[in-house]
Amino acid sequence: MPEILVCQVGELADGAVRIVKNNNQDIGVIRHDGAWYAYRNFCPHQGGPACEGVRMPAAVELLSEGGVTRGLHYDESEMHIVCPWHGYEFRLSDGVHARDEHVRLKKYEVVERDGSVYVLV
Ligand code: FES
Repeated sequence: MPEILVCQVGELADGAVRIVKNNNQDIGVIRHDGAWYAYRNFCPHQGGPACEGVRMPAAVELLSEGGVTRGLHYDESEMHIVCPWHGYEFRLSDGVHARDEHVRLKKYEVVERDGSVYVLV
């Protein structure tokens, strides 16, 4: 499988994103909590640069037993990528839209080998 060199191991700080080119497409490679994630930098909504958006924990509404809202809290166990154009949110873990499983970013595998990081295309 073809691969694209992203960086050297340790070169990209945690929380950073690097955009690499695959022919005429951009792929965003994200370093988060020591793991790698890579998605096509193309939002399925209207083509925005989704990988360049902020990353934040999922907002979860807390409800009482009677269904009355008790406010929002952030679920640190589920990080989202927020598209900078209109705010679509995708799970960092798999690129799937937070509310619609049919909407997703194209995912790529990332490997570390011999001190370098590659995305498989
Ligand atoms: S282009 Fe991403 S939310 Fe609209």
